[in-house]
Amino acid sequence: MFDITEKLAIEGGAPAMKTPIAHRKRHGEAEKHYLGEVIDSDTLFFYLGTKVRELERRFAALYDKKHCIACSSGTASLHIAIGALQLAPGTEVITSAITDMGTLTGLLYQGLVPVFADVESDTLNMDPASVRAVMTAKTGAIIAVHHAGLAANLDGLLDLGSASGVPVIEDCAQAYGCKWEGELVGRRGLISCFSLNHFKHISAGSGGMILTDDDHIRYIASLFLDKCYQREENIRNPFFLAPNYQMTEMQGAVALAQLERLDEFLEIRMRLGDRLMQHLSMLDGISLQSVPDGATHSYFLTLFAIDPGRFSATTTQFAEALRKEGVNAKANLVTGGKPVYLYDLFQARSAFPGSHYPFASRDTGSDRYYPKGLCPVAESAFERWIVVELLENYSIQNVDEMAHAIGKVAHHFRLHAGTLTGSEARGSARN
Ligand SMILES: Cc1ncc(COP(=O)(O)O)c(C=O)c1O
Repeated sequence: MFDITEKLAIEGGAPAMKTPIAHRKRHGEAEKHYLGEVIDSDTLFFYLGTKVRELERRFAALYDKKHCIACSSGTASLHIAIGALQLAPGTEVITSAITDMGTLTGLLYQGLVPVFADVESDTLNMDPASVRAVMTAKTGAIIAVHHAGLAANLDGLLDLGSASGVPVIEDCAQAYGCKWEGELVGRRGLISCFSLNHFKHISAGSGGMILTDDDHIRYIASLFLDKCYQREENIRNPFFLAPNYQMTEMQGAVALAQLERLDEFLEIRMRLGDRLMQHLSMLDGISLQSVPDGATHSYFLTLFAIDPGRFSATTTQFAEALRKEGVNAKANLVTGGKPVYLYDLFQARSAFPGSHYPFASRDTGSDRYYPKGLCPVAESAFERWIVVELLENYSIQNVDEMAHAIGKVAHHFRLHAGTLTGSEARGSARN
């Protein structure tokens, strides 16, 4: 039974999180076994080894896609995807105002110009209406980011793409296991990209995956991965500029072992995330991400929003009080507390030293700025949303205590606090 009127830890009360969180043990015997096989094979190079190829085969099968290409990071996967479209410098690429820098890095290297779409206030995913509003004759691609583990409106975004002949790349770095209309995201875009960095549901330290059904895209992507060496034809005569984004056999071995645990990690994260949301849905002034019918949330990030007019605390103060309760809470949506376009790189237009390329270029006719106020919903999101850590090593008890902590802090900071709402009183009694 929880009492949300208890004294807050910031005021000297006992922290709500009492049960120790189990040690996170993500890697084990399968990784050791596959890594041992790689060392014994004496081949760490993907083209001659078997682990990266097996990983690609299994990942493609998981998503029922024709081709998978593994690479060195999620950032690399997005660079390869955009590179495979062979867009001319100056072409515009629309993506979300709230994403990781890795969504943008590759397109900037290709001389492409990012254009930011605002997000929906209740999902934090790209708003198709905003994407439509920024589409121009220069739009060459849309990168649909499935933020936090909640599917973006794929129908809306794919319809916009197909109506104008613009390909859609799905950025699924945060979206293992999440579904749109009952189908895994990453299946419907022309190309889909995934990350295996430390923070993702599964990790090889770093790593990336690309999916496509398109044979030509697969071929160009396989060259873009590999300095434009045509290894399949045994031709060494690069005809476009391409980096080396190979995945090593060691990464492949770990990624393969992790893939075998993906369902297990997803099941726990989704069960615990849903439980926390169930608790939080009873708190007055707190709102949750809307999960459309047929969509699932796989809780890469676990979020809730405070109604700023209802509390005497900012998200930063709210998160600080939660940390004192023992909850690992942050108010910056893991983008550093602002939409991507407010980073210095975009404000100063300083991707390359001594130049404003590709944002401004006489050759391409580009001259794009990213003023404050560009995507107002994304900018205001940081005054509303708080992220709490919820990983597969958490227990049901940890989750229930986390809900208690959030309830306590909400109760304390709620303006005109003093009485419990009907649902809170019922929730408090039930807990
Ligand atoms: C949405 C999104 N896209 C791209 C990336 C880049 O992935 P990586 O860190 O593996 O390069 C990330 C990583 O955080 C991400 O969250």
